[in-house]
Amino acid sequence: MIALKEMPQTATMNIDGVSVEFTEGETIYEAAQRVQKSIPTLCYDPRLEAFGACRLCVVEVEGIRNPVASCTTEATAGMVVKTKTSAIEKYRKTLLEMVASENRQVDVDPLRGFASQELTSLVVEYDAKSGRFQGKQSGQSNTDDKNPFILRDYDNCISCYRCVRVCAEQEGDYAINVMNRGFETQIITEFGNDLRDSSCTFCGQCVQTCPTGALADKKAMRAVDQPGEISKTRSICPYCGVGCSVDILTKNEKIVGVQPAMDGPSNEGALCIKGQFAFDFVQHEDRLMKPLVRRDDGELHECEWEEALDRAAAGFKAVREEHDRHAIYGIASGRAPHEAAYTMQKFIRAGFGTNQIDNCSRA
Ligand code: SF4
Ligand code: SF4
Ligand code: FES
Repeated sequence: MIALKEMPQTATMNIDGVSVEFTEGETIYEAAQRVQKSIPTLCYDPRLEAFGACRLCVVEVEGIRNPVASCTTEATAGMVVKTKTSAIEKYRKTLLEMVASENRQVDVDPLRGFASQELTSLVVEYDAKSGRFQGKQSGQSNTDDKNPFILRDYDNCISCYRCVRVCAEQEGDYAINVMNRGFETQIITEFGNDLRDSSCTFCGQCVQTCPTGALADKKAMRAVDQPGEISKTRSICPYCGVGCSVDILTKNEKIVGVQPAMDGPSNEGALCIKGQFAFDFVQHEDRLMKPLVRRDDGELHECEWEEALDRAAAGFKAVREEHDRHAIYGIASGRAPHEAAYTMQKFIRAGFGTNQIDNCSRA
């Protein structure tokens, strides 16, 4: 007998005077998001398990004496929540001033990463003073890590652990973790090695989720001093058949970086090392702009497409005549669209009479 799956129960709560329906297991923050309530966050990333570290998302709940973190508190039926009282706003401003006082740099370049402006924007919004609290500072920068992709500028770390959590929960890599507590807190790799000597795959997810720019995209930062505004153009990564959505960053119509699209249907903010960092080929001076054929002198020469295609066709025919039709094997590119993949299998099956056709996306 097939057991029917129980439907999640819905109930009603009240947020800022508005009746809001929620499903069992939803947090106050999730329910508030659905009705467009603006609650500030720093340690929250919707893709990750809620963590409750920064306390910026606190709200007042009727019947509970102290403010509660909305990102970790489950909504309950009849709950009455206030998201923006003067006491809550003062609490948030003080928290931001503590963080901003401890961080060495609050204004960071947006090229550092997708979420790098989160702290900066909140400090501006709350007019938080960065010098209010004086004393010890946590985080030891590891800016001499020689890896070519990720700047580890922990002077700006606020111990939200989003990097550690995204590496474990999204990437499944566990390349970084947290050492010590309090002012001694430090994000480290195993044995404190450079990232290249860890299990890091350089997916860049830790960079893109970091809300302070403590982790930064070294390649994009090459363009920090270049004049011009940063433009973002939504596109699809050209490397494989997954089709990850990306935002291409340009300055003066030159590509300076890539950021994953958090709302990309197939990647939801994830990329691999190629999609994230391997974009230099687009504007590289050695990039092939015309086909090359090897002529009788044994050297490669530029030619027109017609000649290149004729040569390729002659090569295929020669192989078939000498070694039979099954000596031909086609591999379609994962960078090609469906229609091109279909044409490719037709070309191999109908053109040469063999079923030896595959696609590199299966590899
Ligand atoms: S490096 Fe960034 S993401 Fe990681 S804990 Fe520090 S502030 Fe958070
Ligand atoms: S780049 Fe990816 S694998 Fe490496 S530490 Fe960051 S999240 Fe983990
Ligand atoms: S966002 Fe809720 S505690 Fe940080």
